[in-house]
Amino acid sequence: MCYYRLEFSEVKNMEKPNLKDARIRTHNKVNIIRNFKISDELKEIGKNKKYLVKTYGCQMNERDSENICAMLEGMGYTRTNTIDNADLVVLNTCAIRENAHNKVFGMLGRLKHLKEERPIMVGVCGCMAQEEVVVNEIMTKNKHVDFVLGTHNLHRLPEVIKNSIDKNALEVEVWSKEGDIIEDIPIKRESKYKAWVNIMYGCDKFCTYCIVPYTRGKQRSRLKEDIIKEVSDLVSEGYQEVTLLGQNVNAYGKDIEGYNYNMANLLSDVAKTGIKRIKFVTSHPWDFTDDMISVIRDNENVLPYVHLPVQSGSNKILKLMGRKYTRESYLELVHKLRENIPNLCLTTDIIVGFPNETDEDFNDTLSIVNECKYDQAYTFIYSKRVGTPAAAMQDSIPLSKKEERLQVLNELINKYSLESNKKLLNKVVDVLIDCKSEKEGMLSGYTSNNKLVNVCAPISYIGKIAKVKITECKTWSLDGVLDE
Ligand code: 5AD
Ligand code: SF4
Repeated sequence: MCYYRLEFSEVKNMEKPNLKDARIRTHNKVNIIRNFKISDELKEIGKNKKYLVKTYGCQMNERDSENICAMLEGMGYTRTNTIDNADLVVLNTCAIRENAHNKVFGMLGRLKHLKEERPIMVGVCGCMAQEEVVVNEIMTKNKHVDFVLGTHNLHRLPEVIKNSIDKNALEVEVWSKEGDIIEDIPIKRESKYKAWVNIMYGCDKFCTYCIVPYTRGKQRSRLKEDIIKEVSDLVSEGYQEVTLLGQNVNAYGKDIEGYNYNMANLLSDVAKTGIKRIKFVTSHPWDFTDDMISVIRDNENVLPYVHLPVQSGSNKILKLMGRKYTRESYLELVHKLRENIPNLCLTTDIIVGFPNETDEDFNDTLSIVNECKYDQAYTFIYSKRVGTPAAAMQDSIPLSKKEERLQVLNELINKYSLESNKKLLNKVVDVLIDCKSEKEGMLSGYTSNNKLVNVCAPISYIGKIAKVKITECKTWSLDGVLDE
């Protein structure tokens, strides 16, 4: 089926992203907006229609998708899990590496074919929407896309959908600004037991390889009252676990002038709500204070789990990355964490093949892994991001060399993962069982120090924290049986 659409030259009032504006940081006060509403007119748009949201990337995006789903349902759409009967497909995208980018364009290609058969509506939001190169590629090569919506104006989704339908044309609305805090967008949470809770948005660290400060705006902390209320409400609803989310959670509060309240204070107050489990991601080694270590150690419901991205073990590369800590100061922090927090689960992110990384630099990364003995690590080959300072650096390392380094690193990481998992053999641990396992007939969940466990247990255990005896330890997961 073919149907008429306006050509781009006819489309008025596009708000396209602009990387130069996205880089600007001022001391202007952050607006906290609390007036979200879906007008009656918009509530009818999705009647008898089905939507599918596909999420790429990090937990922030998972959390944003919960807002997207709630707004769409507020417009009358109902959810489907398959593209085959969807009337609206929203891609919530990730810009952090080239492969995430390619996956999205692959999906857009698939949707183009579908759209030749029936009038399916296609929207792109998330971090890729904030990139000039992406929006240009959509406008020139993906004319079947109906709307592009930026991260700063996610709350405008209902209006943007309506505008696109009314104009029968691509609607691009991407704000390249420092960002506000929108407090009251509705949420449709994916889980009834575990919840994501944003504590801050954006990032001001500007690591030289990273696109996030451009796509997510400046660091802006939510007010403690709003966070505590959200967690308290979750406790009343029966939630067992919250994960506090931010790009740099330990810098919480630093962006609010005169705010005498930091991440250690917040963790301690969230612990008082009585929620059974509290996690927090991601920590930057720079802002991790002794007070935070004490709060983790002294509160049983603050889980002994720290995700502390190291990125590289070489001081030369850390400097080129703009990470603002040294190998030595990182190791000092790790030793302090290990000494003070029993059963600590320590995980990290590592990039290999950053421009100018020599074999010696890479060996420094291997040696820091040997010292830290991470429980798990997310490892990546450096990916050039247009507009970031590292993109202008000479990168003469061949891809084959980078792949080789990644493989060597992964083997080492796997060795330590298995070693740390093996420590739990025959031990009885608390597992928050929250879903059916991929393994037939089993359920799965996480220990308090963040290890994935597959358990033989009746389905009624979903949502419970159960005592589980570990019977088998593998690199990525553990197997266990109920012990209660
Ligand atoms: N290339 C490769 N990995 C990256 N990360 C961020 N930007 C890039 C990039 N350009 C990794 C970092 C970060 C994690 C979320 O993604 O390790 O901690
Ligand atoms: Fe990116 Fe660095 Fe900010 Fe993390 S701290 S989001 S790696 S710029």
